[in-house]
Amino acid sequence: MRITNTSFWLLALAISLFSIIFALNIIPPPSTTSNAAINPPNSSQLSVLKRVLKQSGLEDLLSLATRIMYRPHHHRRRHKVKCDKNRWSFWLIAHYKRLIYHYRIPLILTVDTKGCANFTSVQKAVDAVPDFSPSKTLIIIDTGTYREKVVVHANKTNLILQGRGYHNTIIAWNDTANSTGGTSYSSSVAIFAPNFTAYNMSFKNTAPPALPGEVGGQAVALRIGGDQAAFYGCGFYGAQDTLHDDRGRHYFKECFVQGSIDFIFGNARSLYEVLMYYPNIPYNTYKT
Ligand SMILES: *[C@@H]1O[C@H](CO)[C@@H](O)[C@H](O)[C@H]1NC(C)=O
Ligand SMILES: *[C@@H]1O[C@H](CO)[C@@H](O)[C@H](O)[C@H]1NC(C)=O
Ligand SMILES: *[C@@H]1O[C@H](CO)[C@@H](O)[C@H](O)[C@H]1NC(C)=O
Ligand SMILES: *[C@@H]1O[C@H](CO)[C@@H](O)[C@H](O)[C@H]1NC(C)=O
Ligand SMILES: *[C@@H]1O[C@H](CO)[C@@H](O)[C@H](O)[C@H]1NC(C)=O
Ligand SMILES: *[C@@H]1O[C@H](CO)[C@@H](O)[C@H](O)[C@H]1NC(C)=O
Ligand SMILES: *[C@@H]1O[C@H](CO)[C@@H](O)[C@H](O)[C@H]1NC(C)=O
Repeated sequence: MRITNTSFWLLALAISLFSIIFALNIIPPPSTTSNAAINPPNSSQLSVLKRVLKQSGLEDLLSLATRIMYRPHHHRRRHKVKCDKNRWSFWLIAHYKRLIYHYRIPLILTVDTKGCANFTSVQKAVDAVPDFSPSKTLIIIDTGTYREKVVVHANKTNLILQGRGYHNTIIAWNDTANSTGGTSYSSSVAIFAPNFTAYNMSFKNTAPPALPGEVGGQAVALRIGGDQAAFYGCGFYGAQDTLHDDRGRHYFKECFVQGSIDFIFGNARSLYEVLMYYPNIPYNTYKT
């Protein structure tokens, strides 16, 4: 008698739980409802329901049941934004350990587009570099195109940007002399700090090439005005005035420059090694 009594109440409880869950599940999203009869409960109705549930002690059971029912869903949703912690903490940083060891780098910052690294913007990472640092700071930039204008001010000394290959890590913007009021302001990336180094990444200006005879179309990809800068395995892409080798002593090794008119210009004293020029380039227009 007692056992049947208990199971009766258990059954009743189970039925009411399921009807509540069922009712909650079939509530249609607000945007699709026009009929008043199937409108979702408004907030005061919901809070009454919640209070009743709380008082009857059913809330905990209900939330447990809901959690169990929704588990596959939650699981899938969490999977989408899940970050591979090992990628940054072990794999990528370990990949550059020789560099880190060689320069005894005390600070490493990471950037990616997915929100799994320290920053999703290169400029934010640069801003986090200590001012006038006597030691190197390494910023590892994962594969991706970073659409932003980046300025490395003169006080961000001894910075190393490390990309994941010049085809993979790209900083791109599309200012022109017209849009900024001067060729030197049109650069996608401008570097004024001494002892800057970049490895295996690209600097792009994606502004469309100016029509023949049109003025104001100069679009600089990189302006380098800091002393003792070095670029290894980097790409510079633009149409007119791609690389503004402004002032200072600079070293370019195994880099790639694409442009059409005056694609390298400036007053710097630079050494270019194994620089590849693109076809139909007027060789006589460049000076270093
Ligand atoms: C919610 O519904 C109740 C009963 O239908 C109604 O009295 C109340 O005004 C409604 N509240 C809101 C915010 O629409
Ligand atoms: C960058 O991310 C790593 C790994 O999540 C963390 O250990 C480190 O403290 C972060 N650094 C900064 C400056 O946010
Ligand atoms: C670093 O340079 C920026 C830009 O010139 C300036 O705004 C900032 O105040 C400087 N920081 C220090 C500590 O001098
Ligand atoms: C840069 O691109 C954006 C978006 O494509 C566009 O709205 C803007 O006008 C472009 N700027 C210039 C100077 O071409
Ligand atoms: C730049 O590097 C050189 C040689 O590594 C060093 O002597 C100089 O002090 C550095 N400059 C700055 C501003 O840190
Ligand atoms: C740059 O990329 C080349 C080719 O992928 C690779 O051999 C080299 O080790 C890389 N260098 C750095 C510093 O990432
Ligand atoms: C730049 O501006 C000038 C004057 O407003 C205009 O004649 C020229 O066509 C513009 N150039 C480009 C590339 O838009």
